[in-house]
Amino acid sequence: MFGNIIIDTVLTIILALGVILLIWTFVEPHILTVRREVLPPVDGNGGNGGNECAAGTGVPRGSARIFFFSDLHAEFCFISPARLIAVIEKEHKARPLDAVVFGGDIINNPLKHEKGKDYLSKVAEALKRLGIPFYGVTGNHDVMIPASELEGYDIRWLHGDCTILESKDGSIPFALAGVRDSGRECRVWYDVPALPEGQAVSRKILIAHNPDVVLHMKDTDTCDYIISGHIHRGQIRTPFGIEFTVLRKDDLPRQKVITGTHIINGKCLHISDGIGCVRLPMRFLCLPQVSVLDIPL
Ligand SMILES: [Fe+2]
Repeated sequence: MFGNIIIDTVLTIILALGVILLIWTFVEPHILTVRREVLPPVDGNGGNGGNECAAGTGVPRGSARIFFFSDLHAEFCFISPARLIAVIEKEHKARPLDAVVFGGDIINNPLKHEKGKDYLSKVAEALKRLGIPFYGVTGNHDVMIPASELEGYDIRWLHGDCTILESKDGSIPFALAGVRDSGRECRVWYDVPALPEGQAVSRKILIAHNPDVVLHMKDTDTCDYIISGHIHRGQIRTPFGIEFTVLRKDDLPRQKVITGTHIINGKCLHISDGIGCVRLPMRFLCLPQVSVLDIPL
C-alpha cells in the first residue's frame, strides 16, 4: 500500500515535469537573446594590407561592427520584426553598426516565402531609415525559391559577390563576401568570391549559411572570418546529442562545434543560433539568438 503511494507520487512528479518541459519548449522560441562578442584578431590571408595604420604593429586599429541574424524560418519565428528592429536600433545607438547581415533560411516551405519576404522587408525599411546597409545569403531551405523572386527582396544578396565597406570605427576598408547554399541534395561548396581587382582591404569576412564551409575551402578560397547559422544549436537538445548524430548530417556538430566562435583551419568561425524554428515550433535549451560582432581590422 505504502509502496504504491510512493510509485504513484514518483510517476506524478515525472509526468508533471514532462508537461512543464513540454510547455517550456513552446515558450523558449519567444525569448530573444543578444550575443555580443569581440572576435579574436585573425589573419587568415583574406586581407591584403588595407589597414596601413596598423601594418607591422599587429595591433588592430579599428573594428567592423556587424549585426547578424539567421534562420528566420518565418512560419515558426516568434520574434516579431518590430522586436528585432528594436534590438538593431538599440545596438546601433550604442555604437554605429557597419552592416546588418541575414544568414539564410527564410522559410520552411518555399511556396510560402512571401511571409519571409514581408518580414525581411520590414527590417529593410527600418535599416534604410537608420542608414545601415542590409546584406544576406540564402540557406538550404531557400533553394526552391526562384532567383527572380529573390530579386524582389529589398536586401542585397551576396551570392558569389564581394563588396567593400569602410568601417565606421577607424575608416578601414574591409570586404564582405558571401556564398549561397546549394541545399543538401547534390551539395556544392561554392568558391569564395575574390576581392575586386586592385582593392586593398584589412580583412575579408565570408557569410555562408552552413558553417561546414570552413572544412571545404580550397587554397584559392581566401577569408579571415566566417559568419554562419544553420545549426540552431540543435534546436531541441537531447541528453545524448541525437539531434546531431541521427537527425543532422553536418560535420562540425559531430566535432562538438555547434555554436559561438571557433578558430578552424586558420579562420575565425562564428555560428549564431538563429531566431526561428525548423519543422516544429519548439526550442529546448537553444534560445533564439542574434549576434553583434566586433571584428578587429
Ligand atoms: Fe535553419
